Amino acid sequence: MDKKDAHIIVLGNEKGGTGKSTLAMHIVVGLLGLDKKVAVIDLDARQKSIARYLQNRQAFMANGGAKVAMPEFKVVAQSTASMIKDREAEDQKNFQAALDAFNKRVDYIVIDCPGNDTYLSRLAHALADTLVTPLNDSFIDLDLLGEVSPTDYKVKKFSLYTDMVWDSRKYRSVSGKPPMDWVVVRTRLASLDSRNNKRVHDALDVLQKRIMFRYVPGLYERVIYKEMFPSGLTILDLEKVNSLSHVAARQEVRTLVENLNLFE
Ligand SMILES: Nc1ncnc2c1ncn2[C@@H]1O[C@H](COP(=O)(O)OP(=O)(O)OP(=O)(O)O)[C@@H](O)[C@H]1O
Ligand SMILES: [Mg+2]
Repeated sequence: MDKKDAHIIVLGNEKGGTGKSTLAMHIVVGLLGLDKKVAVIDLDARQKSIARYLQNRQAFMANGGAKVAMPEFKVVAQSTASMIKDREAEDQKNFQAALDAFNKRVDYIVIDCPGNDTYLSRLAHALADTLVTPLNDSFIDLDLLGEVSPTDYKVKKFSLYTDMVWDSRKYRSVSGKPPMDWVVVRTRLASLDSRNNKRVHDALDVLQKRIMFRYVPGLYERVIYKEMFPSGLTILDLEKVNSLSHVAARQEVRTLVENLNLFE
């Protein structure tokens, strides 16, 4: 019997360095740890952050490290054709080929988008069953979703990114797909900033009703989330964690994966 379509998880926003690739990697390893079959598509061929993370993981094993679960992965580069029409057709074809290579063979396809608006990124958003948007924990970063007045929390206008997600939602509903679950993940949280934290919470609470996303806590700002990149490992791969901060980090990642509500 044919396996059902893979559930597509897209990591996206239009701001560089907010933590998309870091979150993507931790979600992937979290799912692998639950014995799920996972594939990764990297649409950020300029940086290839997640692809490089995964290559480091392969190298770790090749160099005698313990065996760790691996997803399959592909990088899809943007077309360089000179005419827009040709570029879009080529992007569409390459993206579809990557999806076809994985679909029905894996449970989840995790797609890491670049931090700017590209045609490939739009294609991915239109297919997202779950869209994960990391948001850094400051009032300024809310602009990524919409302009909210810092005094009375009135929403002044939505961002271009929010408009794009709405277009993707319309596309899904026209093509008869179930609604997208848009999850805004507050990430790189500072542990000692409760006033800012509360203000961002209040503004997000207003925004989530207007734009229809749900927001969940993500990862605090911790060295452990970046220092393991060269080894290709994450906190979830460590057999023993000794420090309290590592125990907390591991729990944060597990809670995040649970909060994505991916399992019936
Ligand atoms: N929770 C975190 N704690 C500490 N460092 C983090 C955390 N999340 C991300 N970083 C670091 O911040 C930088 C940017 O993160 P990342 O590459 O994941 O962002 P991105 O949104 O994928 O960026 P881009 O838009 O450029 O693709 C990296 O150096 C990463 O290691
Ligand atoms: Mg990235």
